[in-house]
Amino acid sequence: MTIHHVGGVSLPNAPIMIGAGVCKTPQSTRKWLTVAPVVSGSYTPEQREGNKGNRLFYPDTLDELLKTGKGFNWFGMPNMGFKAAARELAGYRGEQPFVVSVAGFSVEDYLGGVEKFTVVEGVAAIELNFGCPNTKHGKIMSFDPNSLDTLFRRLGKSVGKPIWVKFSPYDDTGLLKEVASIVNKSRTIRAVVTCNTVPNQFAGEGNLSSPNSCGGLSGPAIKQTALEQVTQFRKHLNTEIDVIGVGGITTGNDVIDRLDAGAKAVQLTSLPFWSGNPGDFWEILLDQDTGGRLEAYLNNEL
Ligand SMILES: Cc1cc2nc3c(=O)[nH]c(=O)nc-3n(C[C@H](O)[C@H](O)[C@H](O)COP(=O)(O)O)c2cc1C
Repeated sequence: MTIHHVGGVSLPNAPIMIGAGVCKTPQSTRKWLTVAPVVSGSYTPEQREGNKGNRLFYPDTLDELLKTGKGFNWFGMPNMGFKAAARELAGYRGEQPFVVSVAGFSVEDYLGGVEKFTVVEGVAAIELNFGCPNTKHGKIMSFDPNSLDTLFRRLGKSVGKPIWVKFSPYDDTGLLKEVASIVNKSRTIRAVVTCNTVPNQFAGEGNLSSPNSCGGLSGPAIKQTALEQVTQFRKHLNTEIDVIGVGGITTGNDVIDRLDAGAKAVQLTSLPFWSGNPGDFWEILLDQDTGGRLEAYLNNEL
């Protein structure tokens, strides 16, 4: 079986992971680790209830997501907080690795998350999620190069675990290039994960309980955007920093498109989230009509 090395982490079997958001608890993390490596979280410094309402995501089913191509969510980061997550995740020794996703609202929050999870046995890497709204500076951190620069300088050189950074999609290629150059200056980042949901997108009147029916957009609708983010980051990043592609991957052949664009591995969130069933994951990806290229790749025939 081929082992795939990405951002300082070894993935057995395939360069494919379950993206952040599917497993928001250590319990669900262990459930999905039975089929693939997982990004667990995101976790914030304190426990959060998340948003309230009947409609935190839309649509209701995987079939509908695949038919319309669009998934929306407005969860508001419900999670148990760093301390409880660190305690419950510690000591895992299974075959598939897991990465912890840290979210926050200030530079200090991220530094605190790195400090907390660095010492947790079993954590393969720490992924910093810069797609959170409601930061103390009023900007989503992906779009705030000054805060990113400050954070990466303060992280310093070696923190004990590989650090991955995950950004929202950039439609301004100049800003993407600026962010890539800040990442290049950092001495500790091993991988860029691109991309998070497209923020603040209209989900249709009443489809979410958010005040203006807006949420983060994911799924096939963002496939081309996410693919282009991989191409751009690969072009601008130093070669020793890996790119991990996420966004709109719902078939095995999508995985290969992302690898062809320069990603070293991929993550999928909408497909497993809306499916809800780890048992279907590989069956869907290796579907004869849409997954032939992935099957050939895994058999070393591409
Ligand atoms: C229901 C849901 C919850 C998510 N929660 C998180 C999260 O907690 N942290 C994070 O970094 N990204 C989160 N995301 C973003 C995904 O990990 C991913 O970047 C994005 O949805 C694009 O990939 P996809 O099209 O495969 O879903 C979430 C996405 C969805 C659909």
